[in-house]
Amino acid sequence: MSRIVYVNGRYLPYAKAAVHVEDRGFQFADSIYEVCQVRSGRLVDEARHMARLARSLSELRIRAPMSAGALAHVMRQTIKRNRVRDGLVYLQVTRGEGPREFAFPPEDVPRTVVCIARAVVPDPHAALAEQGIAVKTMPDIRWGRCDIKTVMLLPACLAKEAARGDGAREAWLVDNDGFVTEGASSNAWIVSSEGAVITRQIAPAILAGVTRATLIDLLREDEVPFIERPFRVPEALAAREAFITSATNTVMPVVRIDGTLIGDGRPGQLTRRLRSKFDQFAAISSA
Ligand code: PDD
Repeated sequence: MSRIVYVNGRYLPYAKAAVHVEDRGFQFADSIYEVCQVRSGRLVDEARHMARLARSLSELRIRAPMSAGALAHVMRQTIKRNRVRDGLVYLQVTRGEGPREFAFPPEDVPRTVVCIARAVVPDPHAALAEQGIAVKTMPDIRWGRCDIKTVMLLPACLAKEAARGDGAREAWLVDNDGFVTEGASSNAWIVSSEGAVITRQIAPAILAGVTRATLIDLLREDEVPFIERPFRVPEALAAREAFITSATNTVMPVVRIDGTLIGDGRPGQLTRRLRSKFDQFAAISSA
């Protein structure tokens, strides 16, 4: 089946879908995005994704291109027109196009809106989650507003590529004080020897992951001890379990960090339980 992409009010064949060469997203990364999981043709955690999108726009003073309801409609239409049952939907909004000027264009310049949906096999990472993934730590060289979901992703690409070179699937970014901020495209978590789940608190240094927020709800529901605080790499290496969260991976066990095995080198018990709890939540949330 040919793929259909939404661009500025039109649903176009994939090969014909394009934005202007002087789009500010292309030239300045003056642009924000969301990635949501699709299950049974529905968006998982839609309200949280739409709220974060609205926040990203407002923090960058990009006027919303349309109402939140209309944006969600575009996402649903893109999913439907591509007959995606299980997969991902990507929505991007840029400040629009115009001659290359650093300062913002006039208020009436239309924003660029792109939406892409992609089918994936249900639970594409199931086999990977059985094994767990390796992580490589890297200096966090990103800017000071990582709480905004911008497309300024070059540091993430460089970190992921370096991780791949070392046989790792994700990079954990480390700040100047030696604390892990987050993954290149995920939030970072550890489980202490006492069984407490630890992840860094929300601040401009990290993205407030939607999966992170939902998992915290599930931890509270299950009364699992949970602490929001930074942790350093040696603490992670000595942790009982480690994992990452993101819309694309849900809860993914980490079994190796910089070549050191975490726990017994297999996905931790609590991590497995949280992954299956998240799966149940996703099935209900998209029902
Ligand atoms: N990335 N931190 C960063 C830097 C991220 O890029 C992401 C997600 C997350 C997790 O957020 P969420 O749980 O809302 O997906 C944390 C998406 C999946 C991406 O860029 O593909």
